[in-house]
Amino acid sequence: MDIKNLIKQAIEAREMAYAPYSGFKVGAALLSVCGKVYTGCNVENAAFTPGICAERTAVSTAVADGVRKFSAIAVVGGADHLADDCFPCGVCRQVLMEFCPPGFQIIVAKSPEEYRVFTLGQLLPHGFGPSNLE
Ligand code: THU
Repeated sequence: MDIKNLIKQAIEAREMAYAPYSGFKVGAALLSVCGKVYTGCNVENAAFTPGICAERTAVSTAVADGVRKFSAIAVVGGADHLADDCFPCGVCRQVLMEFCPPGFQIIVAKSPEEYRVFTLGQLLPHGFGPSNLE
């Protein structure tokens, strides 16, 4: 996996963020197991609650394209400049849990050179997922 390239795509996706209320722009690049990348940005709303995070935008785009298996996601965020850490929120972790295995990699990046890699299992231990309903 080309981590730097995935981060670059997340940085590019962040440019499209619609975040007039928080001013915090987030970009995500989701890598499918077949190698295709789906990007997303946060899309806020005047009514606040309907706003959606970058990660879930990327997941929804992929699922709408018929893709449900993923190996990694790169996430970047910040107001003026990229923040040190932009971890996926709890809701996004839960949505990733729906489609991704515990070893799925979550790359929290500040730049293509500065990043940290976590697994979904680390960020959402003992999560509730599809297997719980089998
Ligand atoms: N945000 C994301 O896009 N992803 C996250 O995981 C954290 C938060 C967005 C939501 C909102 O538009 C802005 O960042 C500030 O919370």
